[in-house]
Amino acid sequence: MDIQTLKSSFRKIFQTEPVLVKSPGRINIIGEHTDYNNGFVMPAAINKAIYVAVSQRDDQEIHLYAESYQQKHVASIDQIEKSDKSWANYILGVADQIKKRGFEFSGFNLYLDGNVPLGAGLSSSAALECATAFAINHLNNLGISQMDLALISQKAEHEFAGVNCGIMDQFASVFGKKDQAMMLDCRSMKYEYIPLKLDGYRLVLLNTNVKHSLADSAYNERRSQCEQGVAWIKEYEPEVNSLRDVSLEMLEKYVKAKDMEVYRKCTFVVQEIARVIKAADQLANGDLTALGKLMFATHEGLSKDYEVSCKELDFLVDFVRDFDGVIGARMMGGGFGGCTINIVKDEQIETLIDKITIAYQNTFNLNVEAYVVETGDGSSLLG
Ligand code: GLA
Repeated sequence: MDIQTLKSSFRKIFQTEPVLVKSPGRINIIGEHTDYNNGFVMPAAINKAIYVAVSQRDDQEIHLYAESYQQKHVASIDQIEKSDKSWANYILGVADQIKKRGFEFSGFNLYLDGNVPLGAGLSSSAALECATAFAINHLNNLGISQMDLALISQKAEHEFAGVNCGIMDQFASVFGKKDQAMMLDCRSMKYEYIPLKLDGYRLVLLNTNVKHSLADSAYNERRSQCEQGVAWIKEYEPEVNSLRDVSLEMLEKYVKAKDMEVYRKCTFVVQEIARVIKAADQLANGDLTALGKLMFATHEGLSKDYEVSCKELDFLVDFVRDFDGVIGARMMGGGFGGCTINIVKDEQIETLIDKITIAYQNTFNLNVEAYVVETGDGSSLLG
């Protein structure tokens, strides 16, 4: 993204000078569907981002323009309502949350562009929310902490996009650091950076180029199933507040007989939380082979037990399983489409991409897109 182009596009539309904010998309090494269960996640920010150019207005109006949709939207801070344009809702949802927290801020102009592939499970929506929160905070000197910017953005997603997401995506978009993964404890919100030492290997994303429509409803349903499991256990073990506090024995004892579906979903989450803890050590010790095995195990669980995969994702993971130079692979993010994340030996990347492109095309008549991931920094002001 070229800063000068962003600025001049903004000037053409709004006839004034902007400041620029950049918020990245994210990957997740391991720890899927654990964030809303108070577990651990291990995301990293990437070098693809959403860019917003913004300026303050002297009224209470919000004027938006999205480059990729070539669409405008106008709203008012006095009465923030959901729009029928989904891109605008991420911005309006954030403004609404900041207002609900009692902050006063002036109207603003916002021009939006970016290079995070949309609908690919790289959290372009979280990036847009975080960029908006960062921009409103900056323009009005509100003094909102980084963690609160992430939490505000998450709440916007719940209320204006209708997805009861966890905190991982917004956290990664705010706190990311180049060459680092982050180990976040979603119960205490404490986190540490772990250097992404990949020594001769790289992270490759393979984009299925599908996003099945049940993604959002299934996501919310999984979350309720996890909460149901916790509620049943809590009847007997009152100190349990989330699946983070739950053992496999408790699931066996209190949930299995009640509902096999809920049991399988909760079992996956408890196992996945344990995998992230192991993975953090393995990454820190440079044991990529062991980490790769855990990623395959995560995929298996997401596909068979948690049931958030799809045939396209399963195909991509199965294809690389015995491929020379691939030591780990799994679907990434909420599921039902988007990308797989793969640890691949440098020299094998090209061959892998060539072969899998043909195989995927032959099977689904669809193009698979490959991105060799570069990590990047979290939300920042570009000036
Ligand atoms: C989506 C959500 C995240 C997280 C993942 C699954 O990306 O936004 O909060 O739950 O799915 O790990």
